Amino acid sequence: MSEAEIGLIGLGTMGSNLALNIAEKGHKVAVWNRTASRMKSFVGNAGDLAENIVACDTLEDLMQAIRPPRPVILMVPAGDPVDQQIDALRPLAGMGDIIIDGGNANFHDTERRVKELEESGIVLVGMGVSGGEDGARNGPSIMVGSDKAAWQRIETIVTDIAAKYEGEPCAAWLGPGGAGHLVKTIHNGIEYADMQMIAEVYGILRDGPGLGAEEISSIFTRWNDGRLNSYLIEITAEVLATADPDSSVPLVDVIQDKAGQKGTGRWSVIEAAMLGVPATCIEAAVAARSLSSLKREREYASRRYPQAPRQQSVSTGDLVAELEGALLAGKIAAYAQGFAIMRAASDKYGWDLPMATIARIWRAGCIIRSQLLDSIAKAYDAKPKTANLMVAPSFVDILLPAHLALRVTAGRAALQGLPAPALSAALAYFDSYRQARGTANLIQGQRDFFGAHGFEKIGSRGQKHGPWAERTGKNKV
Ligand code: 6PG
Repeated sequence: MSEAEIGLIGLGTMGSNLALNIAEKGHKVAVWNRTASRMKSFVGNAGDLAENIVACDTLEDLMQAIRPPRPVILMVPAGDPVDQQIDALRPLAGMGDIIIDGGNANFHDTERRVKELEESGIVLVGMGVSGGEDGARNGPSIMVGSDKAAWQRIETIVTDIAAKYEGEPCAAWLGPGGAGHLVKTIHNGIEYADMQMIAEVYGILRDGPGLGAEEISSIFTRWNDGRLNSYLIEITAEVLATADPDSSVPLVDVIQDKAGQKGTGRWSVIEAAMLGVPATCIEAAVAARSLSSLKREREYASRRYPQAPRQQSVSTGDLVAELEGALLAGKIAAYAQGFAIMRAASDKYGWDLPMATIARIWRAGCIIRSQLLDSIAKAYDAKPKTANLMVAPSFVDILLPAHLALRVTAGRAALQGLPAPALSAALAYFDSYRQARGTANLIQGQRDFFGAHGFEKIGSRGQKHGPWAERTGKNKV
């Protein structure tokens, strides 16, 4: 009976597409879904691929159908459903069996689950999967965290189903435990920043010179042939060019300006804050989504502070060229922050995350796939311990001109009252990062003045205090 190479639980959109992808690559997959009717229709619609699918009526059947040690992919919603599914599998699984969580888990949960299962000898693999529905079916980018033996058991299947970039699979083992899910979380954090900056540029073109959705779509289509070439730029052009079937106006013009969020962007920001890593572009993107949901408050405020007419002092051609450079510079800053978070997490948790490999497996299949990632992989290949992407030589060459475009864009947006929080955050990050002498000397002086927290003095060792009491007669330190 043990004929399947792998099992899969949860035939929702992602799960069913992943199961078809596995079957298509010639691997027999046993599947189970909580609602039997869904499984029936899934198998019924699988066509020729049904011969590689073993539909199981119960979890017991599923476990019996898989060749040991038995890997089972969970494609269920993140959070409690994962714990519930693990609890249901625990009595049926044994030493060496492998539960693979393919959802967007919080990596702290993954680490906890690894430990909870350790005693029973069941191995938990945290597998980040990016690429949406199409990626799951035709090749996602896959970020794996697990023990090495479990990876060896699943490596062939995982690399077979992954997207390929010039023939190289976009899947890799990145480290133990929660490493794969942390990397997927940061992928999403970068995705938030990238999307927000694109939306800001759209807003500048829409509300500055007043371009229509179709005109803006053409600009994005053109950009996609250049340095900004990426999936998100490509789909932005598509979204902007799509008409509303009910009214024939551009669909984007009738979509509510309130963005949803499921949590991975927020987790990126929380993790960055806990690690003490500045992630201002991602923070701005998460905050912008939160602010977008305050629709009624924004409407009220817009009546209190009406917009003055916007003077357009630049030709549309020059503005478009400027925005292209600004988007490129902003994107580099966002990636620099994402990679810096991963570097700090790697150090804290002792993972030794392979930065070049991460960039390489993001070059195809995932939502943030872009030309830039190949350059990022090369930069980390050349110097694996690069402190920050913005100082990698190839990126200095790009940023030296591009930061000027970002500066002009952020300045113009501010003067015109057009919100560009993520692009402005990118500029402030760039300017702060390249400032050899900053202003924290004053912060240290203030901290010492009110709380005797001490400061280091240039040219001498140890903590010092200022003579504040002599000046004020108070705050004796
Ligand atoms: C991916 C996506 C995917 C999902 C996001 C959406 O990599 O395939 O990132 O994971 O679409 O989680 O997240 P929000 O609902 O938070 O935008």
